[in-house]
Amino acid sequence: MEFLPISSESLKKGAEIIKNGGLVAFPTETVYGLGADAFNPRALAKIFEVKNRPYFDPLIIHIASVETLEKTANLSILGKDTQKKLFLLAENLWPGPLSIVLPKNEKIPGIATAGMRTAAVRIPDHDGARELILLCGTAVAAPSANPFGSLSPTRAQHVLNSLGEKADLILDGGVTRIGLESTVLDITGGQIKILRPGGTPKEAIEKLIGPVQEADSSGREVKCELNSPGMLKSHYAPKAALYALSREDIIKKRHEEETDTSLKIAYIFFDGHTGDEWKAVHKMTENVIAKILSQTGQMREAASRFFDTLHELDNENISRIYAQFAPDRGLGEAINDRLARASNNQDRGK
Ligand code: TXA
Ligand code: MG
Repeated sequence: MEFLPISSESLKKGAEIIKNGGLVAFPTETVYGLGADAFNPRALAKIFEVKNRPYFDPLIIHIASVETLEKTANLSILGKDTQKKLFLLAENLWPGPLSIVLPKNEKIPGIATAGMRTAAVRIPDHDGARELILLCGTAVAAPSANPFGSLSPTRAQHVLNSLGEKADLILDGGVTRIGLESTVLDITGGQIKILRPGGTPKEAIEKLIGPVQEADSSGREVKCELNSPGMLKSHYAPKAALYALSREDIIKKRHEEETDTSLKIAYIFFDGHTGDEWKAVHKMTENVIAKILSQTGQMREAASRFFDTLHELDNENISRIYAQFAPDRGLGEAINDRLARASNNQDRGK
C-alpha cells in the first residue's frame, strides 16, 4: 500500500492501478471513495470484500463528463420528460454531490449494482477525482472508503486508519469540502425520489424539476432499505452510543445525573448559541467534551464538520454522545438523516 499526496504522478499511478484491477482511495468533494474499474467484476468484488460490505448494497459509478454517461446508463429507456429532467439536473448540478439512479448500461457488471437494473451515477466536483477517472479511461465505481457501517472518511488519514493496507494506494487531497455523501436521487420510477439526502439540498433539485418525493429521514422505512439498500437504519455509526436530541432537549440534558462519573460524555451542538445556553446552566467537568459544528450556525460549515467531529470523538474514548439535530432545511436534512442513523434513539429523541 502506498500513501501519496495528489499530484500528476500519483494520479497516473492511481489510474494504472485501477486499470489493472486494483483499488485506489481518492478524495471527492463529499467524502473519500474507494475506487475500482466499474467494468471489472473482480476488482468490484474486492471492494465488497475490503469494506466488508454486503453484496446487496450497490456502488456509485463516478464519471468525468456527461459525454460518458451513455457508457454507464441506458438513457433510451427513460421517457422524454424524464430525459429532459435528467439533462436539466446534469447541466446545473454536475459536477456535484448528486448521484442519479438511472437504467444501467448492460456492460456494467451486476455486482456493481447488486443485481439491480439501475445504476447510481455522478460526476464528482473535484479536479483530482475527475483527472483520475479521465486517466483511467473508464468509469470508477466507488463507495465511501470506510468499513461498512462505520463513519465516512473526510480525510485520507481516516482511510488509512480504517482500511489500512487494504487499498493499493491512498491519494491524499486534504480534508473534503462538503464532508457528507452525495444526495441519491432516483428518476427511474413514476415519481422522482430522494433515496438518500446528501450534499445537494432538496430545494436545489426542486428548483429545476419541481416537487420530488423524500425518503423518511429517520431511515426507519423498510421501503427505503429495499429501494436503496445502503439506507440501512444503523449506518455511519461512531464507536460511542449516540443520542440525537432537539435543541430544547439537549439544553435540558443534565450529565450531572450520570451515576457513573468516570464516563466520558460528549455534546455536539449545531451552533455556538445553543452551546452557550447549555454551558450557562450546566457544569463543564473534565469528563465532558463540548463540540460545536458551526459557531455561527452556518449549515455548510456544520455539514463539513459533522463526520470529522465524530471521527475526533472516536479517538477520545467517549462513552456517550449527545448531538443536536440541525434545522430541517437544506443540508440540515442530510445532517439529520446521518444523525438519526447513527443514533441509539431512532425515535429522534422526542
Ligand atoms: O458522496 C458519495 O456518494 C460518496 C463518494 C465516494 O462519491 N460515495 C458513497 O457511496 O457514499 P456509498 O457506497 O457509501 O453509498 C452509496 C449509496 C448507498 O446508499 C446505495 O444503496 C445507493 O447509494 N445506491 C447505489 N446504487 C444505487 C441504485 N442503483 N439504486 C438505489 N440506490 C443506490
Ligand atoms: Mg458509505
